[in-house]
Amino acid sequence: MKNARAESLLTLRSAQLHYNVGNLMSQARGRSSWVRAVDGVTINIRRGESVGLLGESGCGKSSLARLLLRLETTTGGEILFDGKDLAQLDKAGLADFRRRTQMIFQNPFDAVNPRFRIRAILSEPLEGARVPKDEHETRILAAMSLVKLGNPAEYLDRFPHQLSGGQLQRIVMARALILQPDFIVADEPVSMLDVSVRAGVLNVFRDVRDRLGLTAIYISHDLSLVRYVCERTLVMYLGRIMEDGPTESIVSAPLHPYSRALVAAVPVPDVNQSHAPLPIGRGAPDPRNPPSGCVFRDRCPAVMAQCVSEVPGLRSAGDRSVACHLY
Ligand SMILES: Nc1ncnc2c1ncn2[C@@H]1O[C@H](COP(=O)(O)OP(=O)(O)OP(=O)(O)O)[C@@H](O)[C@H]1O
Ligand SMILES: [Mg+2]
Repeated sequence: MKNARAESLLTLRSAQLHYNVGNLMSQARGRSSWVRAVDGVTINIRRGESVGLLGESGCGKSSLARLLLRLETTTGGEILFDGKDLAQLDKAGLADFRRRTQMIFQNPFDAVNPRFRIRAILSEPLEGARVPKDEHETRILAAMSLVKLGNPAEYLDRFPHQLSGGQLQRIVMARALILQPDFIVADEPVSMLDVSVRAGVLNVFRDVRDRLGLTAIYISHDLSLVRYVCERTLVMYLGRIMEDGPTESIVSAPLHPYSRALVAAVPVPDVNQSHAPLPIGRGAPDPRNPPSGCVFRDRCPAVMAQCVSEVPGLRSAGDRSVACHLY
């Protein structure tokens, strides 16, 4: 049963996901065999909150998402969902968790079985949850209306390839919502779609989330998209959270030098605009051998001696938290 009074839906305490990628070659070369994809993330996510997870490719966004949905288990630290430790869930607890949480992936064409008709795609979760057969059609049509597919009955006998990317992403959303989850993670849900349909899909996402009071994490490397969807933003770099605060504050006055670079790369907050290259040069360092001290220091325009030796913790700074020795 849901405890409606508990404010926090998700609590992460020093959550870690380190992948072992070692082989004899890397050992012989003296390289670390661990990728620190998520490296000590401590955050709280309240019920009904929409949180953007922002950062460059490879910074660990999808890895963090996989931890939150228990598609991976933590290699350190802990994650509580509704007060329960995800690593300790028994079979029944895990089944309940699976029903309450859903993920929407980047490419809708990869997310569905191309040989199934839309009716079968949307029936699958209902069957899994043992919803009586005679209720399926009503539930399916309701879910399709929720994601604003007009004349939903027309789609039921079609195959995925007969739909546009935007239509299919709405089907994928309908499937994610059909069991009425509490928590959804959308991982770059519009990046594979044509720019002309992105705004429509994002509007549906926002509308559904508000109507159902969902707690949502929206992953993107594009600040203009995060800004469009989320009131709060987490800026991630090399497995760590660098800044956590209200999206508008981060957009208008980013504190962390990395957030500043991300904001500078988005001159116009427009959903249809692709982003400019980051003004900090070079790519992110190898996550197997991150720099000592602050992991951002070798790209940071404000680097100081302290940054080499001391890891900056996430500290409170006004309306947000920031992990930087400047604050
Ligand atoms: N299964 C895995 N085994 C080993 N390393 C992995 C695995 N999955 C991801 N990684 C590594 O972990 C780091 C974080 O990857 P992740 O996919 O979480 O990044 P991301 O922020 O989602 O990137 P993108 O924006 O490209 O999707 C990368 O260095 C990646 O190569
Ligand atoms: Mg990813």
